[in-house]
Amino acid sequence: MKRILVTGGLGFIGSHTVVELQNSGFDVVIIDNLSNSSIKVLDNITSLTGIKPDFYQIDLRNKQDITHFFNTNKIDGIIHFAAFKAVGESVKKPLDYYENNIGSLVYLLQEMQHKNIDNFIFSSSCMAYGTPEKLPITEQTPSNKAASTYANTKQIGEEIIQESCDAYDLHAITLRYFNPIGAHKSAKIGELPNGVPQNLVPFVTQTAAGIREQLSVFGNDYPTEDGTAIRDYIHVVDLAKAHIIALQRLLNKQNKQNFELFNIGTGKGSSVLEIVKTFEKATNQKLNYKIVDRRPGDIAAIYADTTFANEELKWKAEKTLEEALKSAWEWQKNQ
Ligand code: WQD
Repeated sequence: MKRILVTGGLGFIGSHTVVELQNSGFDVVIIDNLSNSSIKVLDNITSLTGIKPDFYQIDLRNKQDITHFFNTNKIDGIIHFAAFKAVGESVKKPLDYYENNIGSLVYLLQEMQHKNIDNFIFSSSCMAYGTPEKLPITEQTPSNKAASTYANTKQIGEEIIQESCDAYDLHAITLRYFNPIGAHKSAKIGELPNGVPQNLVPFVTQTAAGIREQLSVFGNDYPTEDGTAIRDYIHVVDLAKAHIIALQRLLNKQNKQNFELFNIGTGKGSSVLEIVKTFEKATNQKLNYKIVDRRPGDIAAIYADTTFANEELKWKAEKTLEEALKSAWEWQKNQ
């Protein structure tokens, strides 16, 4: 049984990927520092799959702890989610983001090199493209300057991995996510940000649940149809399944280069107001919102051309926006 390390495995995307890994017969060990997740998620995963993943509360900024972990655990592959990921916050705390997102990546890659661990899946983001000139975005679209520190940590992270694959013959696949939303159909795992949600959909569900007074829509003066910003919202379970396929590609040595990169989105763009309207329709909940100024670091529009992942990985997003928003609401009601 292949033993896979999932860093950030108690987080939103990490926990959904752990469930899919266990359902696919992998032995999973999680490292998480609980800075944006809860230990309760470990029991929720166990109740879903019947298998309790091994768990180590380690902060990946601590090189000694990482080295000790790899000295005592034989690992066949790594899926690396652990990172700070809020666009707005990253603009206010750049050094925290560089220290955490870049520092921990370097330490992990050094361990891979020393321990001959070959298979690495990197959680990247469509934000690595910067402000796109042309849409939809393909993997060949050249990246522009990152619009936020968070995006820059993903651009730099990909370069570090590419150079490490070349220099040390590592094999890595980078998945550039678009906007992950929704929750497992059981409503036992979902998006659980600590404190005030930075992302749109958890703020929407918490507003509908009465936890938040009102949703602020960050700007309606963008050059889009209704003036609000456009993103490609993908169901987190579709996203999780893409990780299993990418990991199996590496384990089965089907990768065509040492470093491969795929867009993981639906190929469909939705504006903030479309999310609000679709949520209201899917859940029969009225949303209290107001238009406010733009958020620093945001870009107007981005959505994926997913042809490469569809053809090369034989992966395609299957769930609709409505299903994703409804699952997010079912999860919120279960909190
Ligand atoms: C979406 C849209 C906001 C909150 C996210 C993740 C990032 C990466 C890419 C994975 C924007 C607007 C938001 C609110 C709003 N994901 N908004 N009111 O910034 O696109 O980035 O996806 O790697 O980690 O953060 O997502 O959900 O913050 O914003 O109007 O209260 O919703 O301006 O247009 P973003 P988001």
